[in-house]
Amino acid sequence: MLDIQQYQQHVSQAAAYIREALPPGMPAPAIGIILGTGLGRLADVIEAEQTLPYGAIPHFPTSTVESHDGRLLIGHLDGVPVLAMQGRFHLYEGYSAHDITFPVRVMGLLGINTLLISNAAGGMNTHFRRGDLMLITDHINLQGINPLEGPNVEAWGPRFPDMSEPYDPALRALTKQKALDHGIRLQEGVYLAVLGPNMETKAEYRFLRQIGADVVGMSTIPEVLVARHMNLRVMAMSVITDECFPDALDPVSLDDVLAAAGEAEPKLTTLTRAVVSDVGTSVAA
Ligand code: HPA
Repeated sequence: MLDIQQYQQHVSQAAAYIREALPPGMPAPAIGIILGTGLGRLADVIEAEQTLPYGAIPHFPTSTVESHDGRLLIGHLDGVPVLAMQGRFHLYEGYSAHDITFPVRVMGLLGINTLLISNAAGGMNTHFRRGDLMLITDHINLQGINPLEGPNVEAWGPRFPDMSEPYDPALRALTKQKALDHGIRLQEGVYLAVLGPNMETKAEYRFLRQIGADVVGMSTIPEVLVARHMNLRVMAMSVITDECFPDALDPVSLDDVLAAAGEAEPKLTTLTRAVVSDVGTSVAA
């Protein structure tokens, strides 16, 4: 069983290490970004003043997937201080829910108040097309786990956190406005997370659509639950990497998923930069 006191200590130690590594004079960033699928290139436009490989941070989980770099970037995005996680963790890799949300706890302790997340997802809403972006308005957790299970750390948040608005309405409105400004088509809908790693059967897609989901993926919800537990504002977007229509389902390969994510990347990067720029300015004002 998880030793929550030890876990809490590990989070504090990791946060202390990163705090020490902040460039002198740099204010602690208010914005954290998880560079999931579709946001990898955002790392190229972040002016990193400090880059910490996950392996160097005490107790940080380290990535098993070759395509994920696994480092924490501390720097500025268009002049706004940010913390960015390049490389994230999935349950299907064998990590526990507490492992994969460890970095969110650490960023929360470091003082972020806003968390931006991206992911890849299969589109079940027939109005959505491969390569579209979707703003997440709500979610359904079918992963069968919860990172908030076990003894509650009152200093982090309440035992029974509210989930009436997990995705911040003001941030959603801002993101929609920025999408309009930049002429980017932005769908909206409900993200459902499964454990993975297999894609779904036709019968599963049919079921998941019927219970109210627009897209399905294998990440994000644990991080959102922990972020909301710590009262962070969350904005998350999905890249639709495949069309999951049960009556016309084609086999999907990882290459297809990555290709669609790559095509959508410039749109997602532009939108995220625009949001960060606005949030950063309003925080500073
Ligand atoms: N199912 C689950 N996760 C996914 C999918 C999917 O079809 N596409 C991208 N991530």
